[in-house]
Amino acid sequence: MAIDFTKYIASVPDYPEKGVIFRDISPLMADGEAFHAATDQIVQYAKDKGVEMIVGPEARGFIVGCPVAYELGVGFAPARKEGKLPRATVKASYDLEYGTSSLYLHKDAIKPGQRVLVTDDLLATGGTIGATIKLVEDLGGVVVGTAFLIELDALHGRDQLKGYDVFSLMNY
Ligand code: PRP
Ligand code: HPA
Repeated sequence: MAIDFTKYIASVPDYPEKGVIFRDISPLMADGEAFHAATDQIVQYAKDKGVEMIVGPEARGFIVGCPVAYELGVGFAPARKEGKLPRATVKASYDLEYGTSSLYLHKDAIKPGQRVLVTDDLLATGGTIGATIKLVEDLGGVVVGTAFLIELDALHGRDQLKGYDVFSLMNY
């Protein structure tokens, strides 16, 4: 029987600020069976897309992407925040509620033409994943899909990802 993954999401009112309901994936990660089943669904999606490489943004994109990469036997490249990667990088900036932030990828993280899956725990406004896609494309990678545990419908992140395939396990 299909697992109801929403049972493993803790919804925390007024975090990190009043009026926001924070969707915490920790209980899902803590349950071996549920985490495995969630990973398996993304693995199947990635297989269908012929994925050759996975890229996920710091920090929770690593949690979702790495087990998928392991299962498929493909590589994983971390898109990291300022000052974390030691070698030559490409940079992409994105808007936050107040101000901007940037993500970086090592210049040799992706081979031109490589079929890439971009992963994260949650799609909200789409800024983080949009910047991650830009990094991959700057290096000549082909983003064949994006995969999330959770999509927050009210923030319309999917609309920022026109032309890209979006897979999410849960919608709120
Ligand atoms: C959260 C979440 C996603 C992003 C989604 O990360 O894990 O990466 O926000 O929001 P968006 O679609 O509006 O860009 P956060 O920026 O809190 O970083 P962290 O995981 O390193 O704490
Ligand atoms: N949960 C986790 N990360 C987030 C959320 C959330 O509800 N909104 C934006 N980033």
